[in-house]
Amino acid sequence: MINLPKWDQSLINKYNVSGPRYTSYPTALSLQHGYQQNSLIDAIESSSSNSLSLYIHIPFCSQLCYYCGCNKVITRHQSKADLYLDNLAIEIAAQAGHFKHYQVAQLHLGGGTPTFLTASQMARLVGLLEQHFNFTHDAERGIEIDPRSLADGMLNHLHFLGFNRVSFGIQDFNDDVQLAVNRPQSVDDVKALIGQARALGFKSINADMIYGLPLQTPASFKETITQLIELSPDRVSVFNYAHLPERFAAQRKIKDADLPSAHDKLTMFKNTLEQMTDAGYQFIGMDHFAKKDNELAIAQNQGQLHRNFQGYTTHGQCDLLGLGVSSISQIGNAILQNQKELKHYYQAVQQGDGSAICKGVQLTTDDALRAAVIKQLICQFELDIASIEQQFAIEFNDYFNEALAALEPLIADGLVYVSKEKITVTARGNLFIRIICMCFDKYLQQQIKNSRFSRVI
Ligand SMILES: C[S@@+](CC[C@H](N)C(=O)[O-])C[C@H]1O[C@@H](n2cnc3c(N)ncnc32)[C@H](O)[C@@H]1O
Ligand code: SF4
Repeated sequence: MINLPKWDQSLINKYNVSGPRYTSYPTALSLQHGYQQNSLIDAIESSSSNSLSLYIHIPFCSQLCYYCGCNKVITRHQSKADLYLDNLAIEIAAQAGHFKHYQVAQLHLGGGTPTFLTASQMARLVGLLEQHFNFTHDAERGIEIDPRSLADGMLNHLHFLGFNRVSFGIQDFNDDVQLAVNRPQSVDDVKALIGQARALGFKSINADMIYGLPLQTPASFKETITQLIELSPDRVSVFNYAHLPERFAAQRKIKDADLPSAHDKLTMFKNTLEQMTDAGYQFIGMDHFAKKDNELAIAQNQGQLHRNFQGYTTHGQCDLLGLGVSSISQIGNAILQNQKELKHYYQAVQQGDGSAICKGVQLTTDDALRAAVIKQLICQFELDIASIEQQFAIEFNDYFNEALAALEPLIADGLVYVSKEKITVTARGNLFIRIICMCFDKYLQQQIKNSRFSRVI
């Protein structure tokens, strides 16, 4: 059972620096150009898995949220989605043949806004996937939903198409905050949708929230989280707003003066931790909470939790195939990414072999070892040293003497302790799990120089 995180203001002042979110190791910033379809085929051949998790990126949204850092295209033209599906169909047909010996255990539609698609476009997409891939009878099928863009009857239609997991983007319920980020939506509408999803039998209803948005105050966000808890979602992501206006033009519409201070942001996160854990949610790690009877919490308590590009997951044994613009695959020891811009994605799938892979990294044995250590720490808050030594035929203290030296100040501050058998993250330390993982990250120094990571809290 994971300890409740313990808030220690002096440690927070000391350790609240930027760091990667470790949805992969090496992180996506290490991907290099020059990877293509043959890299995917090699990766499939060397992988020992025959379970697949499919991620499909649908980039369109009908309205711009000013805070947004996702890969998206704002448009009102529904026909753009037809063109996109034409291209996705080429990519699906080209890739599925290589996965004939795989069973799809998980499907996730992300974006952008997948529910930008009309009912018939959605049926076309699911039909294409079912025609080309072998799904297990009980495959988890999830979709991200913008509550504002859900056409009447769409939840029923999604249920009919076999979707059984939904994730609602909520972010904040306060009217002024919603106006400041150009995303008005009423709590009653969200409540009605969650009720409808539950009545239809959707499991693991997730809500995305963000703290650090313009005009948010500790009091207003506390009220938002109170309203959220009343809706009783099974899982909640409370993201730290990543404000990078030099990278995301839309964020330049947000006035610096409207952003909450660093102190207020910390208070919001602290209050959220208290509110969520008081309401019976388990702190899974970083920005994630789940009800104690939710599969994510159960997996964590049984040492079965994993982490991939979609965040925490129960499907770690699966290879991950990403389809669509900008999507990322992780097959065996390779990480591969598709073209990030729609125009380049279309060119790639139409001109060549139907694949849009353009970047990647092939994990070395050292990468795979460090990835295993980081994954175990970030998912379980504990590392079983013997199992790593056995799996990778190393002597842990020798191999990681630099990492262990880097851990020393964190040990002295009581964030983590190291015995012969285990590295254990303490209740004070689990808010700083990214910093603990950073000690094992060989690429970090160079990446920190670019300082493109968000603060850890
Ligand atoms: C693809 S969107 C979810 C689906 C849908 N487009 C929506 O907005 O409802 C993914 C999530 O990323 C989060 N997000 C987007 N931009 C962010 C940023 N700059 N900082 C932190 N979280 C962000 C939001 O919580 C959002 O719900
Ligand atoms: S937050 Fe969601 S709806 Fe808003 S612009 Fe980003 S992807 Fe689109």
